[in-house]
Amino acid sequence: MSKRSRHVCQSCGAVSGKWAGKCEACGAWNTIVEEVVPEAAPKSTSAAHGRALKSETLSGAARELRRLESGIREFDVVTGGGLVPGSATLVGGEPGIGKSTLLLQVAGALAKRKLPATYVTGEEAADQVRHRAQRLGIGDAPVRLVAATNVSDILATLEQGEPPAIVVIDSIQTMFVEGLDSAPGSVAQVRGSAQALVAQAKRSGAALVLLGHVTKEGVIAGPRVLEHMVDTVLTFEGERGHTFRILRATKNRFGPADEIGVFTMTAAGLREEPNPSALFLSDHSANTSGTAVFAGIEGTRPVLVEIQALVAPSPLATPRRAVVGWDSARLAMVLAVLEARCGVAMAGRDVYLNVTGGLRISEPGADLAAAAALVSSLTGEPVPAGTVLFGEIGLSGDVRAVAHSALRLKEAAKLGFKAAWAPPARGEPEDTALNVVAIRHLSDLVARVGGNDIDAPLPLRERKVR
Ligand code: TYD
Ligand code: MG
Repeated sequence: MSKRSRHVCQSCGAVSGKWAGKCEACGAWNTIVEEVVPEAAPKSTSAAHGRALKSETLSGAARELRRLESGIREFDVVTGGGLVPGSATLVGGEPGIGKSTLLLQVAGALAKRKLPATYVTGEEAADQVRHRAQRLGIGDAPVRLVAATNVSDILATLEQGEPPAIVVIDSIQTMFVEGLDSAPGSVAQVRGSAQALVAQAKRSGAALVLLGHVTKEGVIAGPRVLEHMVDTVLTFEGERGHTFRILRATKNRFGPADEIGVFTMTAAGLREEPNPSALFLSDHSANTSGTAVFAGIEGTRPVLVEIQALVAPSPLATPRRAVVGWDSARLAMVLAVLEARCGVAMAGRDVYLNVTGGLRISEPGADLAAAAALVSSLTGEPVPAGTVLFGEIGLSGDVRAVAHSALRLKEAAKLGFKAAWAPPARGEPEDTALNVVAIRHLSDLVARVGGNDIDAPLPLRERKVR
């Protein structure tokens, strides 16, 4: 019998019958690779071949989740209070972002707390990892170090000796299972290796952490093909040239998703940043135009971050629109609303918008701060120092309340801000030390930072209200 083959996209795992230059499913180029289909024994699915299982009820006593607290608080918070025994966690990120460093620190911290930790390195030699551990100040932590890439060998090693509480696999793309006709790093190998390791973790009760590289080119199978197999997906992000690193939970069966942990990369490894707001603010006491401080929420915690805009006359027929750290579609919307509802036209001008510190904001609550930075850059009129902003802009120009406004105001007060420009809160007005200026419509904002240049004709409806 001849072996059947199939074509698998190494970026998203989509399977197709024939080779193509571009993956129809995810749009990536040159990611489709031929793989041999593993032969599976035909299985029968009739009731006669199965056996009846004991069913359970929802009301039974649920075992309380024991968690492995590392003491690295930012890591523990993101995982929902620590890794859960028997669970599988995937940590994805670009090469060089600091995944190995972070997980070696976590393994070291757990080992120091008398929790047996095993670190499997498939990428670096044991000696390299040892050197790194010394630099990180955990050279004396009793971490069991294994240099291996063959999954069968790793499973056999894990079964031997004291059962580990945590197993780190660095990285899943270097692992392979025998008997699969494809190279390490291919979808088949990454899936096969992960499956075997996850099954072992569930059996033994170890917390498994798989490190996976995400590459833009998609030449190696991305962690996306594993997301459904694991309990928790964490992504480790950061901008090149910045030392901030953000660990973000995007899926978590044992805790809140969207939680973040903030670190800075130093010569002695990753250092926690329990107070990230201060990090993302440049000198906010300066009274400069084109900047606004957004009081945001990342996960469950407030984060203050500065948004900068530059609006300048353009020599181009189609002016540039460039955004770092925010959604370009949202920028286009805010610009359109400014023009249509407030008469603030940016046509013929290049527009740059930048979220400082390398943070990526996905909250619509940042609309108002972005609009303030844009208008302020256009007019040269600064937002008064010591002011934070938040609010979502609708297509009509209305500014809508966003969730957790009390938390945002509290954080701003803690960091010494004096005023907030925001839509009135739903329900009870907030009890806050800040001077809250109600911004109900985008034109209220333009009236404050519009300068003398803008003689904004208010929409008729608005005039009647006033
Ligand atoms: P690494 O953890 O190897 O990244 P990944 O596993 O995600 O590929 O981190 C590599 C980068 O971190 C490298 O550019 C050097 C830097 N680094 C420090 O700045 N300080 C340190 O103490 C360590 C260990 C690494
Ligand atoms: Mg690494």
